[in-house]
Amino acid sequence: MKLSIIILAAGLGKRMYSDLPKVLHPLAEKPLIRHVIDTAHALKPDTIHVVYGHGGQQVRETLADIEVNWVEQPQQLGTGHAVAQVMPNIADDTMVLVLYGDVPLISLATLKILCTSSNANNLGILTVNLDNPYGYGRIVRNAQEQVECIVEEKDADTTIKSIKEVNTGILIAHATHLRQWLASLNNNNAQGEYYLTDIIALAVANNLPIFTHTTNNVYEVMGVNDRSQLATLERYYQIQQVNRLMLTGVTVRDPARIDIRGMVQTGQDVSIDVNVIFEGEIMLGNRVKIGPHTIIRNAKIGDDVEILSHCVIDNVVIGTGCKIGPFARLRPETVLAEQVHIGNFVEIKKSTVAQKTKINHLSYIGDSEVGSDVNIGAGTITCNYDGVHKHKTVIEDRAFIGSDTQLVAPVKVGAGATIGAGSTIVTNTPPDTLTLSRSPQKNIPSWHRPIKKNPNNL
Ligand code: UD1
Ligand code: CA
Repeated sequence: MKLSIIILAAGLGKRMYSDLPKVLHPLAEKPLIRHVIDTAHALKPDTIHVVYGHGGQQVRETLADIEVNWVEQPQQLGTGHAVAQVMPNIADDTMVLVLYGDVPLISLATLKILCTSSNANNLGILTVNLDNPYGYGRIVRNAQEQVECIVEEKDADTTIKSIKEVNTGILIAHATHLRQWLASLNNNNAQGEYYLTDIIALAVANNLPIFTHTTNNVYEVMGVNDRSQLATLERYYQIQQVNRLMLTGVTVRDPARIDIRGMVQTGQDVSIDVNVIFEGEIMLGNRVKIGPHTIIRNAKIGDDVEILSHCVIDNVVIGTGCKIGPFARLRPETVLAEQVHIGNFVEIKKSTVAQKTKINHLSYIGDSEVGSDVNIGAGTITCNYDGVHKHKTVIEDRAFIGSDTQLVAPVKVGAGATIGAGSTIVTNTPPDTLTLSRSPQKNIPSWHRPIKKNPNNL
């Protein structure tokens, strides 16, 4: 039998007070709905349909890379109405699983249980027990514990309101039945909406068995309605991510002070200090040590690399045994070979640095090719931009660049060359030669410091 997944995402998200449609708000840097779609894809369904409404265009544009069928629900007349919009796109011999764009952390394991328990002759619903069930549809069971119907909070009397088993909204049914039930829904209820939940009573009337699966993880069925709930789910997600890291052998100094917004792969005996943020795809080799307050985005970091505090590392490859920071900024397309040292207040952009080179203090290296065993003194700047174009600087092996040197690109410093401190280098310098461009020092013995004529008169 086929499987189709419908993801409801037409709601307004009023309580977010945002110009951004609710389902596009990020959790771990990824839009809420993308979490749901990724999980849906993992079930390998035949089709995925997303029901969109408010802010729909923006949702579609943001998710343009994803293969789903977009179905517009121009007016939000209820969850039953939303599902009904999709049904013309779904064949009869199909199981239909309904998910929600604002319930981002639903787990694959739970959905698999629902899918394997469902068939053409039953209706499956996912429930959860809540100490405070306020706001949710309640699962009403008969004396034999069989589900009879779902009653929404706004339609419930006090007896029903005391029920703690609630509807998560997630359900699975056969397309033929679903089509038939949806066609007979009405909106005679407190909210004047076509409730998807009313299909349960219709199934019972058809003598179709209802099966429930009750999850004991409230976070996987928790919806995001406001930014406080978003933050709750973000923290839950982060704790899960960091636990996964720790269980593979990473030392995390404080699991509450690390954020993983992407995928981190690690070698053995990695240690991570507090307030480190990972984004995108990151690979950390064996024995990598990351100091506090550092952001690392899309990076491949080799064995025995030590990153000291307060670094920003973005789209970079760092070779074995490098030492970075504190306060270093490595920008995209930077590649460091083995045992390179990058110290404080050094910015490197789109440059390659060969092994054992040291750039330890206050430098800007951009669009450069730096050889091995080079020593770049404090305050060295590659002047790579003439206001219109970017130009390349080449510094060959074993060069020694004195402090406070400007290398005006395009320019090449030959192998083994020495540049005297304070030089402005505008043409290529020969190998193994001392190059100086500063004006000679003058000492003027006859000069006296001015003296205040009347020291009391300021
Ligand atoms: C719904 C359930 C309730 C359940 C709760 C779980 C119904 C009638 N009630 O209530 O039993 O306990 O979810 O959170 O289904 N949506 C559309 N189009 C619409 C209406 C809603 O796409 O016309 C989408 C919303 O974007 C949202 C989801 O469906 O993602 C749920 O809608 P919402 O109005 O929040 O339902 P609840 O009243 O919370
Ligand atoms: Ca509602």
